[in-house]
Amino acid sequence: MLIEAKHVSKRYVMGKVPLQVLKGVSLKIESGSCVTIMGPSGAGKSTLLHLLAGLDTPTSGDVLWEGEKLSRLSDARRAMVRNKKIGIVFQFYHLLPELTAQENVMLPALVGHAARSKHLKARAEGLLEQVGLTARLRHKPRELSGGEQQRVAIARALINEPQALLCDEPTGNLDSKTGAEVMDLLFALRKQHHLGLLLVTHQAKLAERADQAIVLEDGKIVEAERVAERKTR
Ligand SMILES: Nc1ncnc2c1ncn2[C@@H]1O[C@H](COP(=O)(O)OP(=O)(O)OP(=O)(O)O)[C@@H](O)[C@H]1O
Ligand SMILES: [Mg+2]
Repeated sequence: MLIEAKHVSKRYVMGKVPLQVLKGVSLKIESGSCVTIMGPSGAGKSTLLHLLAGLDTPTSGDVLWEGEKLSRLSDARRAMVRNKKIGIVFQFYHLLPELTAQENVMLPALVGHAARSKHLKARAEGLLEQVGLTARLRHKPRELSGGEQQRVAIARALINEPQALLCDEPTGNLDSKTGAEVMDLLFALRKQHHLGLLLVTHQAKLAERADQAIVLEDGKIVEAERVAERKTR
């Protein structure tokens, strides 16, 4: 199993008021499979994605990467493993404004490996070609449209050849046509790179393309449907 959450709970304490955001959530992401998470605003979707990515730690329960509990890894080791195995795509792209598209894509691979930068340039170019941005290599983020910036962010998430791609409303900030193009791209890349794909989304029709569609409400999974099984019924 690529990524697994076992009875994960998360509580934030604001001043004296505890806020139970996740209440015993369990899920699995297999390699090559797609899981969608839907649910109302505030349900805990982003919190869950951050826990699965090891960007935050659960109050109780475990997150495992390939069977290994994250709680057993040091912060440094967890960051290193994440950088290698997991790509993350956010709603608002998070590109560095002073870098070109190509440099933004190269960035995660440069951490600790500056010497490989020549070979990397070609890899970044190849990924930008895959997302249809060959003509935009030297553009800075402000010179790119929203959809183009998101495609740069997707290429960046793939530079270290991760096994999983975790996306938090990757099309939430795009018009519906551009959003659909970005989603098609994500599904194509998933097939090509055999990625485990987790999509937090508000679009019900995407759930139909997933292997498993999860609905989160008030910190709990209220629906977890194996879409493939439904299709064969
Ligand atoms: N760092 C934090 N400290 C305190 N409370 C937080 C923190 N992060 C999130 N929350 C609270 O946890 C709840 C769940 O937040 P989360 O961002 O996971 O929701 P979401 O399902 O992603 O919502 P949306 O669809 O609006 O993005 C919210 O009520 C939010 O206010
Ligand atoms: Mg969110």
